[in-house]
Amino acid sequence: MTPAEPMSIRALVRTEPRSSGDDRSIGAILIDSGRLTLDDAEHILRKQKDEGLRFGEAAIKLGLLKEEDIQFALARQFDYPYLVPGESNVSKELVAAYQPFSRQVESLRALRSQLMLRWFNGSPDRRAISIVSTARKEGRSYLAANLAVVFSQLGERTLLVDADLRNPRQHELFGLANRAGLAQMITGRADESAIERVPAFMDFSVITAGSAPPNPQELLSRSSFSNLLAMLSGRYDVIVVDTPAADEGADAQTVAVRTGAALLVARQNASYVDDLQDLSDSLHHATAAVVGVVMNEF
Ligand SMILES: Nc1ncnc2c1ncn2[C@@H]1O[C@H](COP(=O)(O)OP(=O)(O)OP(=O)(O)O)[C@@H](O)[C@H]1O
Ligand SMILES: [Mg+2]
Repeated sequence: MTPAEPMSIRALVRTEPRSSGDDRSIGAILIDSGRLTLDDAEHILRKQKDEGLRFGEAAIKLGLLKEEDIQFALARQFDYPYLVPGESNVSKELVAAYQPFSRQVESLRALRSQLMLRWFNGSPDRRAISIVSTARKEGRSYLAANLAVVFSQLGERTLLVDADLRNPRQHELFGLANRAGLAQMITGRADESAIERVPAFMDFSVITAGSAPPNPQELLSRSSFSNLLAMLSGRYDVIVVDTPAADEGADAQTVAVRTGAALLVARQNASYVDDLQDLSDSLHHATAAVVGVVMNEF
Protein backbone atom coordinates (compact mmCIF):
# COMPACT_ATOMS: atom_id res chain seq x y z
CA MET A 1 0.00 0.00 0.00
CA THR A 2 1.22 3.50 -0.69
CA PRO A 3 2.04 5.43 2.47
CA ALA A 4 0.14 8.39 3.88
CA GLU A 5 -3.33 7.31 2.91
CA PRO A 6 -5.22 7.50 6.16
CA MET A 7 -8.50 7.75 4.26
CA SER A 8 -8.20 4.19 3.00
CA ILE A 9 -7.19 2.93 6.43
CA ARG A 10 -10.11 4.76 7.92
CA ALA A 11 -12.47 3.00 5.57
CA LEU A 12 -10.97 -0.41 6.29
CA VAL A 13 -10.71 -0.36 10.05
CA ARG A 14 -14.00 1.15 11.08
CA THR A 15 -14.90 -1.74 13.32
CA GLU A 16 -14.91 -0.27 16.83
CA PRO A 17 -17.81 1.53 18.49
CA ARG A 18 -18.25 5.11 17.37
CA SER A 19 -19.18 8.21 19.27
CA SER A 20 -19.53 11.92 18.85
CA GLY A 21 -15.92 12.29 20.01
CA ASP A 22 -13.02 11.78 17.64
CA ASP A 23 -14.46 10.84 14.30
CA ARG A 24 -11.54 8.69 13.22
CA SER A 25 -11.27 4.94 13.64
CA ILE A 26 -9.01 3.29 16.21
CA GLY A 27 -6.48 2.47 13.50
CA ALA A 28 -6.46 5.99 12.07
CA ILE A 29 -6.03 7.54 15.52
CA LEU A 30 -3.07 5.26 16.22
CA ILE A 31 -1.48 5.96 12.86
CA ASP A 32 -1.96 9.71 13.21
CA SER A 33 -0.42 9.68 16.69
CA GLY A 34 2.62 7.75 15.45
CA ARG A 35 1.86 4.62 17.48
CA LEU A 36 1.21 2.46 14.45
CA THR A 37 2.75 2.29 10.98
CA LEU A 38 0.71 1.75 7.86
CA ASP A 39 2.48 -1.57 7.26
CA ASP A 40 1.60 -2.82 10.72
CA ALA A 41 -1.97 -1.61 10.28
CA GLU A 42 -2.16 -3.79 7.17
CA HIS A 43 -0.96 -6.84 9.09
CA ILE A 44 -3.55 -6.18 11.75
CA LEU A 45 -6.31 -5.75 9.20
CA ARG A 46 -5.41 -9.05 7.54
CA LYS A 47 -5.41 -10.89 10.88
CA GLN A 48 -8.66 -9.16 11.83
CA LYS A 49 -10.30 -10.35 8.63
CA ASP A 50 -8.88 -13.89 8.73
CA GLU A 51 -9.88 -14.56 12.33
CA GLY A 52 -12.95 -12.37 12.64
CA LEU A 53 -11.40 -10.33 15.47
CA ARG A 54 -11.82 -6.75 16.51
CA PHE A 55 -9.02 -4.44 15.42
CA GLY A 56 -7.59 -4.08 18.92
CA GLU A 57 -7.66 -7.80 19.63
CA ALA A 58 -5.89 -8.59 16.37
CA ALA A 59 -3.24 -5.96 17.06
CA ILE A 60 -2.52 -7.29 20.55
CA LYS A 61 -2.38 -10.90 19.29
CA LEU A 62 0.21 -9.85 16.76
CA GLY A 63 2.15 -7.97 19.41
CA LEU A 64 1.97 -4.79 17.36
CA LEU A 65 0.09 -2.76 19.92
CA LYS A 66 -0.27 -2.79 23.67
CA GLU A 67 -3.45 -2.56 25.67
CA GLU A 68 -2.55 1.03 26.56
CA ASP A 69 -2.42 1.97 22.86
CA ILE A 70 -5.95 0.69 22.40
CA GLN A 71 -7.09 2.52 25.51
CA PHE A 72 -5.46 5.67 24.20
CA ALA A 73 -7.37 5.43 20.93
CA LEU A 74 -10.65 4.57 22.64
CA ALA A 75 -10.19 7.54 24.95
CA ARG A 76 -9.77 9.79 21.92
CA GLN A 77 -12.79 8.31 20.19
CA PHE A 78 -15.00 8.84 23.16
CA ASP A 79 -13.77 12.32 23.85
CA TYR A 80 -12.25 11.24 27.13
CA PRO A 81 -9.63 13.74 28.25
CA TYR A 82 -6.45 11.74 28.28
CA LEU A 83 -2.93 13.04 28.00
CA VAL A 84 0.21 11.58 26.54
CA PRO A 85 3.53 12.52 28.19
CA GLY A 86 5.21 15.29 26.26
CA GLU A 87 1.96 16.43 24.67
CA SER A 88 0.96 18.84 27.40
CA ASN A 89 2.67 20.90 30.07
CA VAL A 90 0.47 19.63 32.88
CA SER A 91 2.41 17.67 35.51
CA LYS A 92 2.81 13.89 35.42
CA GLU A 93 1.34 13.95 38.93
CA LEU A 94 -2.04 14.30 37.25
CA VAL A 95 -2.45 10.55 37.01
CA ALA A 96 -6.16 10.99 36.28
CA ALA A 97 -5.16 12.50 32.95
CA TYR A 98 -2.11 10.40 32.09
CA GLN A 99 -3.14 7.00 33.42
CA PRO A 100 -6.94 7.08 33.50
CA PHE A 101 -7.18 3.29 33.45
CA SER A 102 -4.80 2.64 36.35
CA ARG A 103 -5.96 1.22 39.68
CA GLN A 104 -5.25 4.46 41.46
CA VAL A 105 -7.52 6.37 39.11
CA GLU A 106 -10.13 3.65 39.45
CA SER A 107 -10.11 4.50 43.19
CA LEU A 108 -10.46 8.19 42.39
CA ARG A 109 -13.53 7.42 40.31
CA ALA A 110 -14.95 5.40 43.21
CA LEU A 111 -14.32 8.39 45.46
CA ARG A 112 -16.05 10.60 42.90
CA SER A 113 -19.11 8.34 43.03
CA GLN A 114 -19.17 8.47 46.81
CA LEU A 115 -19.01 12.25 46.76
CA MET A 116 -21.81 12.43 44.20
CA LEU A 117 -23.94 10.30 46.51
CA ARG A 118 -23.01 12.06 49.72
CA TRP A 119 -22.57 15.69 48.78
CA PHE A 120 -23.01 16.93 45.21
CA ASN A 121 -26.73 16.77 44.65
CA GLY A 122 -27.03 19.49 42.04
CA SER A 123 -28.20 22.23 44.39
CA PRO A 124 -26.15 25.46 44.26
CA ASP A 125 -25.21 25.28 47.94
CA ARG A 126 -23.66 21.86 47.39
CA ARG A 127 -21.25 22.48 44.58
CA ALA A 128 -18.01 23.06 46.44
CA ILE A 129 -15.84 20.89 48.64
CA SER A 130 -12.60 21.59 50.51
CA ILE A 131 -9.80 19.07 50.57
CA VAL A 132 -8.27 19.23 54.06
CA SER A 133 -5.69 17.39 56.13
CA THR A 134 -3.97 17.86 59.43
CA ALA A 135 -0.32 18.21 58.39
CA ARG A 136 1.84 19.14 55.45
CA LYS A 137 2.72 16.82 52.58
CA GLU A 138 -0.19 14.48 53.04
CA GLY A 139 -1.29 14.80 49.41
CA ARG A 140 -4.10 17.38 49.57
CA SER A 141 -3.00 19.17 46.40
CA TYR A 142 -2.43 15.92 44.53
CA LEU A 143 -5.82 14.60 45.53
CA ALA A 144 -7.65 17.88 44.86
CA ALA A 145 -6.17 18.13 41.37
CA ASN A 146 -6.79 14.52 40.38
CA LEU A 147 -10.26 14.48 41.87
CA ALA A 148 -11.16 17.62 39.93
CA VAL A 149 -9.89 15.99 36.74
CA VAL A 150 -12.05 12.86 37.23
CA PHE A 151 -15.08 15.08 37.80
CA SER A 152 -14.38 16.88 34.55
CA GLN A 153 -14.05 13.51 32.80
CA LEU A 154 -17.64 12.88 33.78
CA GLY A 155 -18.63 16.00 31.88
CA GLU A 156 -19.13 18.16 34.97
CA ARG A 157 -18.27 21.86 34.64
CA THR A 158 -15.32 21.74 37.02
CA LEU A 159 -13.35 24.41 38.82
CA LEU A 160 -10.28 23.83 40.97
CA VAL A 161 -9.47 26.62 43.43
CA ASP A 162 -6.11 26.87 45.15
CA ALA A 163 -6.95 28.31 48.56
CA ASP A 164 -3.56 27.32 49.94
CA LEU A 165 -2.24 30.86 49.95
CA ARG A 166 0.76 29.71 52.01
CA ASN A 167 2.28 26.94 49.92
CA PRO A 168 0.30 26.93 46.67
CA ARG A 169 0.92 24.17 44.13
CA GLN A 170 -1.96 23.97 41.69
CA HIS A 171 -0.30 26.36 39.24
CA GLU A 172 2.68 23.98 39.10
CA LEU A 173 0.50 20.95 38.56
CA PHE A 174 -1.35 22.58 35.67
CA GLY A 175 1.59 24.52 34.20
CA LEU A 176 -0.01 27.91 34.84
CA ALA A 177 1.45 31.27 35.81
CA ASN A 178 0.59 32.32 39.34
CA ARG A 179 0.41 36.07 39.13
CA ALA A 180 -3.23 37.00 39.59
CA GLY A 181 -5.26 34.43 41.45
CA LEU A 182 -7.54 33.89 44.41
CA ALA A 183 -5.76 36.37 46.70
CA GLN A 184 -6.16 39.11 44.10
CA MET A 185 -9.77 38.18 43.33
CA ILE A 186 -10.67 38.41 47.02
CA THR A 187 -9.07 41.83 47.34
CA GLY A 188 -10.64 43.08 44.12
CA ARG A 189 -7.35 43.48 42.31
CA ALA A 190 -8.19 40.80 39.74
CA ASP A 191 -11.43 40.06 37.99
CA GLU A 192 -12.84 36.90 36.45
CA SER A 193 -10.10 36.87 33.85
CA ALA A 194 -7.99 35.28 36.62
CA ILE A 195 -10.04 32.10 36.14
CA GLU A 196 -7.89 30.05 33.79
CA ARG A 197 -9.38 27.51 31.46
CA VAL A 198 -7.17 24.41 31.01
CA PRO A 199 -7.65 23.40 27.38
CA ALA A 200 -6.28 19.88 27.90
CA PHE A 201 -9.52 18.97 29.68
CA MET A 202 -13.15 19.14 28.76
CA ASP A 203 -14.68 21.87 30.90
CA PHE A 204 -11.99 22.55 33.42
CA SER A 205 -10.80 25.80 34.98
CA VAL A 206 -8.38 26.71 37.72
CA ILE A 207 -8.10 29.70 40.03
CA THR A 208 -4.50 29.67 41.19
CA ALA A 209 -3.61 31.06 44.61
CA GLY A 210 -2.06 34.21 43.15
CA SER A 211 0.86 36.10 44.59
CA ALA A 212 1.27 35.41 48.28
CA PRO A 213 -0.47 37.80 50.67
CA PRO A 214 0.93 38.48 54.17
CA ASN A 215 -2.46 37.75 55.78
CA PRO A 216 -3.91 34.59 54.20
CA GLN A 217 -6.36 33.74 56.95
CA GLU A 218 -7.75 37.23 57.10
CA LEU A 219 -8.32 37.21 53.32
CA LEU A 220 -10.11 33.88 53.43
CA SER A 221 -12.38 35.19 56.20
CA ARG A 222 -13.59 38.13 54.10
CA SER A 223 -17.12 38.16 52.80
CA SER A 224 -15.75 38.80 49.31
CA PHE A 225 -14.45 35.21 49.35
CA SER A 226 -17.90 33.86 50.29
CA ASN A 227 -19.47 36.02 47.59
CA LEU A 228 -16.97 34.77 45.04
CA LEU A 229 -17.76 31.14 45.91
CA ALA A 230 -21.49 31.86 45.66
CA MET A 231 -21.01 33.41 42.22
CA LEU A 232 -18.87 30.48 41.07
CA SER A 233 -21.44 27.97 42.35
CA GLY A 234 -23.83 29.37 39.78
CA ARG A 235 -21.40 28.60 36.99
CA TYR A 236 -19.78 25.29 37.86
CA ASP A 237 -21.19 21.92 38.84
CA VAL A 238 -18.19 20.96 40.95
CA ILE A 239 -15.72 23.24 42.73
CA VAL A 240 -12.77 21.51 44.42
CA VAL A 241 -10.83 23.69 46.84
CA ASP A 242 -7.26 22.95 47.94
CA THR A 243 -6.34 24.22 51.42
CA PRO A 244 -3.25 24.58 53.63
CA ALA A 245 -2.52 21.97 56.30
CA ALA A 246 -4.78 22.50 59.31
CA ASP A 247 -1.77 22.68 61.62
CA GLU A 248 -0.62 25.83 59.83
CA GLY A 249 -3.51 27.97 60.97
CA ALA A 250 -7.27 28.24 60.73
CA ASP A 251 -7.33 28.73 56.93
CA ALA A 252 -8.53 25.21 56.14
CA GLN A 253 -11.37 25.42 58.59
CA THR A 254 -12.35 28.87 57.34
CA VAL A 255 -12.44 27.62 53.76
CA ALA A 256 -14.30 24.42 54.64
CA VAL A 257 -17.05 26.37 56.36
CA ARG A 258 -17.47 28.47 53.23
CA THR A 259 -17.65 25.47 50.92
CA GLY A 260 -19.99 23.69 53.34
CA ALA A 261 -18.15 20.40 53.09
CA ALA A 262 -14.73 18.92 53.59
CA LEU A 263 -13.01 15.78 52.45
CA LEU A 264 -10.45 14.75 55.04
CA VAL A 265 -7.18 13.33 53.72
CA ALA A 266 -5.06 11.08 55.91
CA ARG A 267 -1.69 9.80 54.88
CA GLN A 268 -1.06 6.15 55.54
CA ASN A 269 1.54 5.66 58.29
CA ALA A 270 1.95 9.41 58.74
CA SER A 271 -1.23 11.07 59.99
CA TYR A 272 -2.12 10.81 63.66
CA VAL A 273 -5.56 9.47 64.49
CA ASP A 274 -5.98 11.95 67.38
CA ASP A 275 -5.19 14.89 65.11
CA LEU A 276 -7.65 13.61 62.52
CA GLN A 277 -10.33 13.26 65.15
CA ASP A 278 -9.65 16.79 66.44
CA LEU A 279 -9.83 18.24 62.94
CA SER A 280 -12.99 16.34 62.16
CA ASP A 281 -14.58 17.56 65.43
CA SER A 282 -13.60 21.15 64.87
CA LEU A 283 -14.94 21.11 61.32
CA HIS A 284 -18.15 19.65 62.60
CA HIS A 285 -18.48 22.35 65.26
CA ALA A 286 -17.74 25.01 62.69
CA THR A 287 -20.65 23.59 60.63
CA ALA A 288 -18.66 22.12 57.77
CA ALA A 289 -19.84 18.64 56.84
CA VAL A 290 -17.05 16.07 56.82
CA VAL A 291 -18.28 14.00 53.90
CA GLY A 292 -15.52 11.44 54.02
CA VAL A 293 -12.01 10.47 54.95
CA VAL A 294 -9.56 9.34 52.29
CA MET A 295 -6.55 7.24 53.14
CA ASN A 296 -3.76 8.35 50.85
CA GLU A 297 -1.06 5.70 50.42
CA PHE A 298 2.17 6.76 48.83
N1 LIG B 1 -1.41 9.08 46.11
C1 LIG B 1 -0.22 9.55 45.75
N2 LIG B 1 0.56 8.84 44.92
C2 LIG B 1 1.76 9.30 44.55
N3 LIG B 1 2.30 10.46 44.95
C3 LIG B 1 1.58 11.21 45.77
C4 LIG B 1 0.27 10.80 46.22
N4 LIG B 1 -0.20 11.77 47.04
C5 LIG B 1 0.74 12.71 47.09
N5 LIG B 1 1.81 12.39 46.35
C6 LIG B 1 3.06 13.16 46.19
O1 LIG B 1 3.47 13.62 47.46
C7 LIG B 1 3.98 14.95 47.38
C8 LIG B 1 3.18 15.84 48.32
O2 LIG B 1 1.86 15.89 47.83
P1 LIG B 1 1.03 17.23 47.85
O3 LIG B 1 1.83 18.39 47.36
O4 LIG B 1 -0.26 16.95 47.18
O5 LIG B 1 0.80 17.34 49.41
P2 LIG B 1 0.13 18.50 50.22
O6 LIG B 1 -0.56 17.88 51.38
O7 LIG B 1 -0.69 19.36 49.32
O8 LIG B 1 1.43 19.28 50.71
P3 LIG B 1 1.60 20.80 51.22
O9 LIG B 1 1.50 20.71 52.70
O10 LIG B 1 2.94 21.22 50.73
O11 LIG B 1 0.47 21.60 50.61
C9 LIG B 1 3.87 15.36 45.92
O12 LIG B 1 5.11 15.15 45.31
C10 LIG B 1 2.84 14.41 45.36
O13 LIG B 1 3.04 14.16 43.99
MG1 LIG C 1 -0.65 21.36 48.94
